[in-house]
Amino acid sequence: MTAELSLRDEIQSVLQEFRSSLGAASTEKELNDLRVHALGKNGKLTGLSKRLGKLPADERKEAGQLVNQAKSEAERGIDEKRQHLAREALQAELDSEWLDVTLDSRGGAIGNLHPVTQIQNEIEDVFISMGFEVLDGPQVETDHYNFEALNIPADHPARDMQDTFYLEDGNLLRTHTSSIQVRGMTHLKPPFKIIGPGKAFRCERIDASHETSFHQLEGMMVDRDINLAHLIYFKQTLLSRIFGREQVTRLRPGYFPFVEPGLELDIQCQICVGKGCAVCKYSGWIELLPSGMVHPNVLRAGNIDPEEFSGFAFGLGLDRLVMMRYGIEDIRHLHRADLRFIEQFG
Ligand code: FA5
Repeated sequence: MTAELSLRDEIQSVLQEFRSSLGAASTEKELNDLRVHALGKNGKLTGLSKRLGKLPADERKEAGQLVNQAKSEAERGIDEKRQHLAREALQAELDSEWLDVTLDSRGGAIGNLHPVTQIQNEIEDVFISMGFEVLDGPQVETDHYNFEALNIPADHPARDMQDTFYLEDGNLLRTHTSSIQVRGMTHLKPPFKIIGPGKAFRCERIDASHETSFHQLEGMMVDRDINLAHLIYFKQTLLSRIFGREQVTRLRPGYFPFVEPGLELDIQCQICVGKGCAVCKYSGWIELLPSGMVHPNVLRAGNIDPEEFSGFAFGLGLDRLVMMRYGIEDIRHLHRADLRFIEQFG
């Protein structure tokens, strides 16, 4: 009985010591040490088990149960504490990590369309709403589509006004989007209404309003009895939709071999409001939208009978239109790919 009491006391005291050490343990190493200390080969609870054999048989069973309970408690306590420490370590790691996989994606930097592309899209919408079809054409053109079919034969002085870059095979970088209307005529049967936006290229002296690479938008309508009044209506509709208000414009005669009569539509320079500046070459006006009634020779080149059909055509300068809309004083801003400039149009 004395031996059993003293063993029970010893178990209690070992357990008490174990519990307080377990509460204080804060690392995996401390837990391992504690296990060795209590349950290892020379551990305190193991030592108590070894003494069971020396007890009288009638006491051994109960004493054995007490020791086993103590060992189970020690095992369980160490396991639970190990899991607790692991959870704490994970939480500390999560708290210190900058990457939170539960956060929604905030998306990357989203760019915006170039202002010339934006205005081109707007104009396409205006004309599509009026029943026009949008055509495309190659930037490297044949002499035929860029000049010949537009009533500008090889020796015509008008070629000097549109000098361009020639390729070794005799093709050239198109000088205007009028080549798109020629291509359109060859596969469309009148009546038709088309626009053709795109890049144009010229061997040009660069200044505030001239670039060697720029953008135009061609428009053409062919039907019976088309006259200048139709042309002027479409031009006015276009400008009022783009600017959202009346613009000061002027119409004057203009010469293009592919139209007769030819018109120039100038818009009052928005940079100097007509006073005169480098952009308008101190005239107060910007050439924006030349046009005219399609020359009979051009209709014939497109297999259209000029006795039956007539049409108008225009060629809008998109870069200058953007300049006038936003008050941009130099066309070169549009071509520099400077994000500080482009991002303003987002
Ligand atoms: C033409 O290119 C004619 N094909 C337009 C046309 C079509 C007339 C159909 C009649 C009938 P012009 O060379 O004027 O025309 O150019 C038209 C517009 O393009 C100009 O008003 C201007 O806004 C723009 N433009 C011309 N050259 C340049 C350049 N170097 N830099 C920037 N814009 C230019």
